[in-house]
Amino acid sequence: MHWTSRTALYRLRVPILALALALASRATQAQAPSTSSAHDEWWRHAVIYEIYPRSFQDSDGDGIGDIKGITSRLDYLKDLGIDAIWITPMYPSPGVDYGYDISDYTAIDPVYGTLADFDMLVAEAKKRQIRVLMDYVINHTSDQNPWFLESRSSRTNPKRDWYIWRDGKGETETDKRQPPNNWQSWFGGPAWEWDPITRQYYYHYFYVQQPDLNWRNPEVRDAMYGVLDFWMKRGAAGFRIDAVSRLFEDPNLHDDPFLPGRNAYGDRNIQHKYTDDLPEVHDVLKEVRRVVDKYPGDPVLITEADEPNVQALTKMYGDKNDEVQLPMDFQIADVNQLSAPRFRQLFNEIESNSANGQPEYFFSNHDQPRQWDRYGDGEHNDQIAKLMAVLLLATRGTPQMYYGEELGMRTTDPARIEDVHDPIGKRGWPKDKGRDGERTPMQWDGSALTGFTTSAKPWLPVPPSAATYNVESERKDPNSIFNTYKRLLALRKTDPALRDGSQQSINNDDPEVVAFLRREGDRTVLVALNMSGHARTVPFHLQANGVKGTRLTPLLSTPAAGSSSIPLDHVELAPFAALVAAVE
Ligand code: GLC
Ligand code: MG
Repeated sequence: MHWTSRTALYRLRVPILALALALASRATQAQAPSTSSAHDEWWRHAVIYEIYPRSFQDSDGDGIGDIKGITSRLDYLKDLGIDAIWITPMYPSPGVDYGYDISDYTAIDPVYGTLADFDMLVAEAKKRQIRVLMDYVINHTSDQNPWFLESRSSRTNPKRDWYIWRDGKGETETDKRQPPNNWQSWFGGPAWEWDPITRQYYYHYFYVQQPDLNWRNPEVRDAMYGVLDFWMKRGAAGFRIDAVSRLFEDPNLHDDPFLPGRNAYGDRNIQHKYTDDLPEVHDVLKEVRRVVDKYPGDPVLITEADEPNVQALTKMYGDKNDEVQLPMDFQIADVNQLSAPRFRQLFNEIESNSANGQPEYFFSNHDQPRQWDRYGDGEHNDQIAKLMAVLLLATRGTPQMYYGEELGMRTTDPARIEDVHDPIGKRGWPKDKGRDGERTPMQWDGSALTGFTTSAKPWLPVPPSAATYNVESERKDPNSIFNTYKRLLALRKTDPALRDGSQQSINNDDPEVVAFLRREGDRTVLVALNMSGHARTVPFHLQANGVKGTRLTPLLSTPAAGSSSIPLDHVELAPFAALVAAVE
């Protein structure tokens, strides 16, 4: 699911009409954030940090990160300014999809530790006001999950209908049998797997080893809601819900429409029309919300759903704001170029979403190449990394970071197919090298093993860039990517306009500079980002916005530009510069 192939696949899903409408719509004035909520929930002001547990910190020298390792790094996260961690799956799993194929939802995989280690992590995190969010893999289980083993054992097994079993087309008894329809797996090949034991096909949106649960079955719902109860009782603060738009399939099994061309796996391109974003998804999200809302502490739900436009994204909040609080904004994550008009348009759209929902922004995760490579121009990547930090952390909304993003970690793909771990990297090689490149060990220091492990063989090799891009050395450099993140995270917490303020786009016709105001009471902070590779001088005239003041006092600028005040009508921005400044 590398961004090249992922974006290509995904673009094809976007209905042409919706795309045309989105492009034609004029960026509208952003509105003030909601004041309607009963109280100020923690997640409105939180910064979430995604941890890929295999790669964050190894405590027992087996070359694989673990829970005790995460606990030992909580002080680092606290010092950085993180409020919540989302940990990708740590449940028992055969590991075909590195944890996203779960064989037991209410236990911890021994490779990561024990439930006692988990309890300790939650307790230690709480002492530091850090909340722990779990990954809720809702669409499918592992084929080794006892539920599936029962389901596949016979056509009359009580759990048969927990998964999606169908007859093939044609002559089932001979080699001429055909899958029930043309649906394809996101990871390549058909979405139907023939099972010789009971002579039917089962459906899997992802790998063959990830059979889809049947969410039309009330018993499945009960069992999966029980999973939420289990982790809430153990102190989870909420969930990131995996692949949620894939929960339901057309019961009539209509064929999906083919599209021109082929994907990295050699399959014909297809629009996942009958297996994606079915309306029933929203019934489940409402039920999930009701389950977690029984618990105190404002539990939060975050969805992974790469919605094609703001209308689809807005639906995730629920028609009565009764679904998820933070649907991830994949549109903004995947702009994949420094385009001021595109970012401006998307920020304005989500800021004025009709549900008045809180935006959730991110640029990197464990499924796509890191932003350092995706947004870098090959020459100014470090400066662009700092610009992206400002874009993420100076906007209104809940930002989400991916471990190592604060260091400028880069994508380091395997050099040879023999070294690939992620199965899609083997299948798609060399067009799609899989997701190992964005999952390499956290770069704690400049030693050969970066402080990640004592094992000579970490599960993925340490990237060469770790020698200079690591916590220890970047801490010492006031202008490092790390210190830029750290200063921004502190500013967000302490400056009332950055913490609570509305967001309003300004200088809307500038083709290269994204600029906006954050306002709270009398305080106005201006944010300006030069997305071009040349120096710009930009005038700001804010009378029309009702802002008094003629000068700017910098709060943070990158590249460093001193702290003396700047006239508002003559703001100089170096190539890829970002400025956060108070209007005075
Ligand atoms: C999500 C996860 C990805 C996983 C897939 C199947 O997209 O982020 O890592 O492979 O779901 O569970
Ligand atoms: Mg370990």
